[in-house]
Amino acid sequence: MCGIVAAITNRNVSSILIEGLKRLEYRGYDSAGIALLDDNNKLIRVRTKGKVEVLEQELKKQPLSGKIGIAHTRWATHGKPTTINAHPHFSSDRVAIVHNGIIENYKDLQQELKEHGYICTSQTDTEIVAHMLDFFLKQGSDLKQAVQKSVKKIKGAYAIVAMEQNNPHQLIAFKKASPLVIGVGIDENFIASDAPALSIVTNRFIYPADENIIVLDDKSVQIYDKNDKLIKSKIVDYTFDSDPIGKGGFSHYMEKEIFEQPATSEQTLEGRISHDKTTIDISNKIPDEILKQVECCHIVACGTSYHAGMVAKYWLEQYAKIPTSIEVASEYRYRSNIVPKNTLYITISQSGETADSIAALKKAQNESNYLSTLVVCNVEQSTMVREAKYNLITRAGVEVGVASTKAFTTQLLTLSILTASLAKLNNDFNEKEFVESLVQLPLKIQQVLEQKEQINKLSTNFKHTNSMLFLGRLTGYPIALEGALKLKEISYIHAESYPAGELKHGPLALIDESLPTIAVVMFEKNTDKLLSNLEEVKSRGGDVYIFADERLKLTEDTQTKIINIPAIDNMLAPILHIIPLQLLAYYVAVHRGTDIDQPRNLAKSVTVE
Ligand code: F6R
Repeated sequence: MCGIVAAITNRNVSSILIEGLKRLEYRGYDSAGIALLDDNNKLIRVRTKGKVEVLEQELKKQPLSGKIGIAHTRWATHGKPTTINAHPHFSSDRVAIVHNGIIENYKDLQQELKEHGYICTSQTDTEIVAHMLDFFLKQGSDLKQAVQKSVKKIKGAYAIVAMEQNNPHQLIAFKKASPLVIGVGIDENFIASDAPALSIVTNRFIYPADENIIVLDDKSVQIYDKNDKLIKSKIVDYTFDSDPIGKGGFSHYMEKEIFEQPATSEQTLEGRISHDKTTIDISNKIPDEILKQVECCHIVACGTSYHAGMVAKYWLEQYAKIPTSIEVASEYRYRSNIVPKNTLYITISQSGETADSIAALKKAQNESNYLSTLVVCNVEQSTMVREAKYNLITRAGVEVGVASTKAFTTQLLTLSILTASLAKLNNDFNEKEFVESLVQLPLKIQQVLEQKEQINKLSTNFKHTNSMLFLGRLTGYPIALEGALKLKEISYIHAESYPAGELKHGPLALIDESLPTIAVVMFEKNTDKLLSNLEEVKSRGGDVYIFADERLKLTEDTQTKIINIPAIDNMLAPILHIIPLQLLAYYVAVHRGTDIDQPRNLAKSVTVE
């Protein structure tokens, strides 16, 4: 997946495009490029390997100027991250293209184009689109017709923006199961992979539907459907946070986002708790008439959001007594699923743009007999929010760090409210007690954050560690999985997670003095069993680092280090217990000197399969 931004204006677009790319780096950051049509209608471009800042530096040495342009930040899918593979791609120096997504039949198309004399110089699946456009242009098509003819031949989920030397007043774009948003300005128009990329130039947006052809000039936006019929589209106004991408005095976005969690939790709760702090209410987002009918839940998500869904499965079965399954979207979308009567499909996504989760949601809506579909999402304008019947917005604010932190805890909080809303309709759930704990949560998160020095000190133990084991039981298990994922993502230390009861069924063989074990120990009925599992680790020479509920009053010894976590209602414990593991991963990565906000090989939003 990659980030696209394009502009057509009456001023130099170079800096607008660079600012847009910086806001799109969450989609990929291994190489970047920009192409403009200059005042003589000549295509000019600069491409660089590495992040957008490298491109920006290069542009200081060789500035570009033009009133129409396209730009791209890449996350390599086909071909290494090199300058030659970076976008925009040209054909015959007259047509330029940027592309996000995957062209599945690019090899066949490459072969066809070869027969017409087109030789690809890059290893990408993108370059053939530029050549195909050039081919149709040479046959007499205009750029819009060339795009229409090309997209008929292309298979895959993708978005493109094209411009042409002989047509200096138009940008043509197309999307199919890949995001693109049009930014509407005054005597200028824009298009990008998402709205925040255009926040410095407009707050008016059009969300084109899939398979629409978009024609932009500086004065107008025209959108054509599959049958080339001009269609009307709605402009949506959106106000952005004043500085969604500032670090606010922290060293990294991830650090800032970890420390924002008391505030983001309050935001998530706002308007969902009654004034007297006794009841919860989400009926304005999903009506009780629907909730009352729910007899089963299917949760589908990816990565960190999948871990939030795993916690929710435990909650929904324990508190709402609703049978619940949880599955990763990349599996769900391709297998045959059985949907019991009155099943609610719940999908969770911070971005709302994850390709597998979108495909799974579409499948649930089109092919299956679900009671309804609900998305728990952080981005109100996202594809998944627009697709699903109901939505609960998590309100974490913009999350820039690739490793998700505040998005995860606000997902959990939202899912806990959903669980409680179902539980109170179904049985004698103690709503008042739950709401009391909800209200205390931001303060308790703050108390965990205040242990940052202690956790930082602990993290120095792992500076040279190669591998770590994370253990938990019940809801502590998905938290252990999430803790291990955080560590892997930003410190590049191999980390595995197991439900502690599984230890003796294989992983115990790994234990020796070189493998540290991190344990998530909550205050619940299985705690003794988990502590026994940790004894088994210690008796085989392993050191254990226990993040334990303070009520357990665990003590340290030569092989045991303890970080105490404040006591909270059992249901909310997972939200509190992930915070020290986020801090641990963060500090380990600081000591190892890795690129914390943009770890290697990853991207914030995974818009390819
Ligand atoms: C890890 C992380 C990813 C995402 C996953 C799904 O820190 O953020 O595992 O959770 O790529 O993305 P969303 O939640 O946007 O659907």
